[in-house]
Amino acid sequence: MTPPDRYAVIGNPITHSKSPEIHARFAAQTGQNLTYERLLSPLDGFTNTVKTFIAQGGKGANVTVPFKLEAFEMATTLTDRARIAGAVNTLRFDGNTILGDNTDGLGLVNDIVQHAGLALKNKRLLLLGAGGAVRGVIQPLLDQKPAALVIANRTVSKAVELAQIFSVASNDSLSTSAFHDLRTPFDIIINGTSAGLTDEMPNVPSAIFSKRSLAYDMVYGKQPTRFMQFALSHGAQARDGLGMLVEQAAESFFVWRGVRPETASVLAALRESL
Ligand code: ATR
Repeated sequence: MTPPDRYAVIGNPITHSKSPEIHARFAAQTGQNLTYERLLSPLDGFTNTVKTFIAQGGKGANVTVPFKLEAFEMATTLTDRARIAGAVNTLRFDGNTILGDNTDGLGLVNDIVQHAGLALKNKRLLLLGAGGAVRGVIQPLLDQKPAALVIANRTVSKAVELAQIFSVASNDSLSTSAFHDLRTPFDIIINGTSAGLTDEMPNVPSAIFSKRSLAYDMVYGKQPTRFMQFALSHGAQARDGLGMLVEQAAESFFVWRGVRPETASVLAALRESL
């Protein structure tokens, strides 16, 4: 039997990454002959880590914090969605070519549409934050043709700068706001700030939530995040980012193998194991 193809997730830290478990499930389900490991890269050694992995026969990798910009720089070819996102979470190695792709945004959209069962067309969407995580999801959200997409950030100037990257004539649904100027409910509110990492939450008014709103946190945990708890206490529905993680992985798997794994059962199993 031919030896399995090697894949990895590269980050620092990396111990808690769920990606190996997700890709092992995808491989078993689709009969793909591959291995998928965790690779801890030194903070100043990302390029070397990737080169060594390629030399050892690596076929592709996911890239996580804090290396998504370095992966973008290292890629010799970029997909359109990676170029627009300004960051790379998926690398594919073909001979001397390093393809850089970004599957995060589609992961978010697919989780909301397929698993939460909500169409985004004509909806009012609010994105909280203006860092790399938010930049990566703007275009895939706009592609769904929402009625409005508002980017709100603690530092408003950063939201304005970000919106300018996407503001072409066809995107007149895109606008920016300060947190305190948000006064009406949105259909979907997506927290893409890094506030949750320190158990904080963005200081947003409760007027953004209604009973029909979905509050979506891009991070996940065993318990609802503070942002989710705040939304729930104001009558909204809430969802964490575990489904986004599974869906971005599924899209990476497709980029590497040309096969689409089934994701609902993998998401359910992962939820069980949290
Ligand atoms: P990432 O790549 O994860 O998006 P980043 O580029 O450092 O990380 O961006 C972090 C984002 O979280 C920013 O939008 C930041 O707001 P500022 O631009 O005002 O700094 C936001 N953020 C972090 N902590 C926050 C907090 N406690 N409240 C509100 N926003 C916060």
